[in-house]
Amino acid sequence: MKLIERLGLAALHQFDPERAHGLSIKALGAGLVPMSGVVTSPRLACSVAGLALANPVGLAAGFDKNAEVVGPLCRAGFGFVEVGAATPRPQPGNPKPRLFRLSEDRGVINRFGFNNQGAEAIAARLAARPRGAVPVGLNLGANKDSTDRAADFARVLAVCGPYVDFATVNVSSPNTEKLRDLQGRAALSALLAGVMETRATLVRQIPIFLKIAPDLSPDELAEIAEVALASGLSGIIATNTTLAREGLKSAHSAQAGGLSGAPLFEKSTRVLAELSRLTQGQLPLIGVGGIGSAAEAYTKILVGASAVQLYSALVYGGLSLAGDIARELDQLLARDGYATVAEAIGKGRDAWL
Ligand code: FNR
Repeated sequence: MKLIERLGLAALHQFDPERAHGLSIKALGAGLVPMSGVVTSPRLACSVAGLALANPVGLAAGFDKNAEVVGPLCRAGFGFVEVGAATPRPQPGNPKPRLFRLSEDRGVINRFGFNNQGAEAIAARLAARPRGAVPVGLNLGANKDSTDRAADFARVLAVCGPYVDFATVNVSSPNTEKLRDLQGRAALSALLAGVMETRATLVRQIPIFLKIAPDLSPDELAEIAEVALASGLSGIIATNTTLAREGLKSAHSAQAGGLSGAPLFEKSTRVLAELSRLTQGQLPLIGVGGIGSAAEAYTKILVGASAVQLYSALVYGGLSLAGDIARELDQLLARDGYATVAEAIGKGRDAWL
């Protein structure tokens, strides 16, 4: 991290976390944040569910909920960017405070509850952005007061789908009551069928991913893998934030909400390993949860991920982490004799089962 970024982060951490995040979005929009630009190499370039990526290190959902700074984020060194979650209608989310730094643990707890400006406003922004080489996807959510939550995912896809390169069905946020019940076999099959029907109406058949929680039992995970394989989905993103609280030191560790960052790494990586075993290379997996270094990104790939995403580590390491992780990942792959990311996928899975 450069000195200027270190100072910027130190200044931001003087503010309440949600205000600090708002300021960082403003700074990005104003062009005040130094950018890595595209980070790529023949070793890093890869393809995931038909998406051509300059490198496999992506931005996870929730950072740019309203697609306000997609252009700058695409120049930050990420190989792909996911924005949202978007719900059909705008909604304010849960009362503040709802975002907490767990600095001693390098973690974050959030209980935002899908605060966003709604699918139409987000679609307009996505439509107006300059198109570049970095794939941009949208995280699909459901309104809290919806009478048909399953249908909400398809509605957001219908409105925003024409302007994105992929979409993610997010049934794993812990901050909308009962949302995670949609991960059960019957509910999930019906929901995904609706989403896939809507996808078929789009001019471009973009990849659809499913994002899952880290707090699933082995049986639930096996069921999800089965449903995912049967539904024609393009891949699975593992994982979202956790409700578990183990071994935390920070003052805010008892706050309600989803925990992310370093304390999530091990749990989410075990879920990834189990999913990789269950799906046996039939579906690409995207590994997310607690990545803060190239070594951790590399571990997720060795465990079975075709690509990775991160968010919470940016709170502590700044946006330059994206490019740094991608560049160092290149070196780690080279060190171990892999000519491409694809060659390394799953090679270290058994150690995590
Ligand atoms: C998130 N995450 C998230 N995920 C999602 O699918 N839709 C969302 O809207 C959000 N919103 C959100 C807000 C905040 C403040 C955080 C910290 C996280 C979860 C995120 O995409 C990711 O899955 C987890 O945070 C785990 O990765 P990290 O943060 O440990 O790298």
